Amino acid sequence: MEQLLALEMVRVTEAAALASARFMGRGDNTEADRAATEAMRRTMDEIEMSGTIVIGEGERDQAPMLYIGEQVGRRDESDRRAVQEIDIAVDPLEGTNLVAHGQANAITVIAASERGGLVNAPDTYMEKLCVGPVAAGRVDIRLSPTENLQRIASALGRGVSDITVIILDRPRHEELIGEVRSTGARIKLISDGDLSAAISCAVSGTGVHAVMGIGGAPEGVITAAALRCLGGEIQARFRFRNDAERARAERMGHGDEERVYTTEELASGDNVVFAATGVTGGDLLQGVRFFGGGARTHSLSMAYQTKQVRFVDTVHMFDRSRPPSVRL
Ligand code: FBP
Repeated sequence: MEQLLALEMVRVTEAAALASARFMGRGDNTEADRAATEAMRRTMDEIEMSGTIVIGEGERDQAPMLYIGEQVGRRDESDRRAVQEIDIAVDPLEGTNLVAHGQANAITVIAASERGGLVNAPDTYMEKLCVGPVAAGRVDIRLSPTENLQRIASALGRGVSDITVIILDRPRHEELIGEVRSTGARIKLISDGDLSAAISCAVSGTGVHAVMGIGGAPEGVITAAALRCLGGEIQARFRFRNDAERARAERMGHGDEERVYTTEELASGDNVVFAATGVTGGDLLQGVRFFGGGARTHSLSMAYQTKQVRFVDTVHMFDRSRPPSVRL
């Protein structure tokens, strides 16, 4: 069941990627996001499930679709078989600016779990520390970046100067960047996309070993779902931008900025599944490649229980009247 769901989810991220990739380089991040969101929402209703959006495009009054609490999925009322009840977290387009400017690493993302298996995170920030499976269990976000880099380097059997850390290029990270530089570690400063970066650090061969710094909290929960499937680790603490965010988080039971959330707490479900599709080419996934009459997508599909990670390479043929252009 879980395996099937993981593959069905790829159809959802593929549809969102195909729709938003048309907006690459047009300088319009809102339209790129809208296209991804609409395609994702539409495709979800083709899947037999009883889904509830727990992380999405915002509150009901802010977002026309994929808002928190929205019910998604195809339910045939005449069919009395139990449909699976699941919670769903989406980032229809991670890296709206990346698509708008034709830059690397934009992805469409979905994570799902049995009910209650994903933290219903308020739309605020989180301080995050993400590592892959080899360094998992060896880091502690309460320690200094220097100490953590030494621990990561030692776990990986290399020097700190052979470690590459991804950090969002933001003024709030000035101190962090300074400290990481002083350790000799290499840094990749990114303009957007700490979720895709975190997945990369758990996949060997990407040349990324850690993600540090403050980014979106919803992205943090989705990161946890992906890292759980990959055996990596995220540690995170909420960071509120203002009193309103703090008050809302308190109402949701997440008001303590000192509390460190682990991977298993953020994505606690036994049946976590995850899917992502590349929109623009990046470290982990190729972007959407259009050809006459079709397109090709590259996706990642994972399920925690089945311990399977699939890279899915799909040719989509839009126009049957044209000779199919399928090649290796
Ligand atoms: P979009 O989803 O709007 O494209 O932004 C993605 C992102 O860069 C995340 O990867 C990151 O967690 C967050 O935004 C950072 O937020 P901010 O831009 O406010 O620093």
